[in-house]
Amino acid sequence: MLVCTSILELKNHIKKARQEGKTIGFVPTMGALHNGHISLIDRAKAESDIVVCSVFVNPTQFNNTQDLAVYPRTLEADCAMLTLAYCDFVFAPSIAEMYPEPNQIKFDFGNLEYVMEGKFRPGHFNGVGVVVSKLFNIVMPDIAFFGQKDIQQCAVINRLIIDLSFQIKLVICETEREIDGLAMSSRNRNLSVEQRQIAPNLYKNMKDCRQLLEEGKPVNEVKNYLQNALKQINGIELEYFEIVDRTSLESIETYIPNQSAMCIAAFLGKTRLIDNILI
Ligand code: PAF
Repeated sequence: MLVCTSILELKNHIKKARQEGKTIGFVPTMGALHNGHISLIDRAKAESDIVVCSVFVNPTQFNNTQDLAVYPRTLEADCAMLTLAYCDFVFAPSIAEMYPEPNQIKFDFGNLEYVMEGKFRPGHFNGVGVVVSKLFNIVMPDIAFFGQKDIQQCAVINRLIIDLSFQIKLVICETEREIDGLAMSSRNRNLSVEQRQIAPNLYKNMKDCRQLLEEGKPVNEVKNYLQNALKQINGIELEYFEIVDRTSLESIETYIPNQSAMCIAAFLGKTRLIDNILI
């Protein structure tokens, strides 16, 4: 496995692989890798000849300087995991390499900017759009692999691919979970022992809500149910819980099986976790 920090160096390697007729699979990450990321690498290995993984904590997608400051940075351990997963190239650029000048471009993702993550993290998806466009231009992959856990990010990337005519297939991979149901996330390592114990309640309560919907309980009552259930748990502060249309991500009033999703964001102390399930 080769670790490249320069755009030019990585592009030269990729050019050579392309000349040999190889297909390129790409897994963009911000590092602090866990088995969820490795499952994306495994999928990329299965579906492409060469796998590139980027590790870059992108400052433009953080609207909170404290969140950016505490975001875990573990490049050495990440590379060890990626080597074991037979990743071919790691792209780990500096901020100056990615942003030689302050970024000026602004994306408008329409309604996606104003709901859920967009509403609570203004500017976040612009930063994601900017960095993913840059990474797509650098790597020029055939296939890009993203995790379902970031359902709204997946919708944004889908728009980016369509609107900017990237010739890239988007593969969305299922959320990997710990044995107790907690969605794998780089942020989980910031949880205290007590917080880690209560964190699975997010998924558990969403599963209860899914059952209530399937039994015919109205959407607004199910939302109230979850809000009340989480209020009983000391240490979890719900930011939002939405039941949405899976494609538009707009809130729905009536549950339509196989077309909807439940999305949640909550703070456990300073750590913000998100999760969702397709229903
Ligand atoms: O999902 C992430 O880790 C990041 O948002 C991404 C896609 C790597 C862009 O920085």
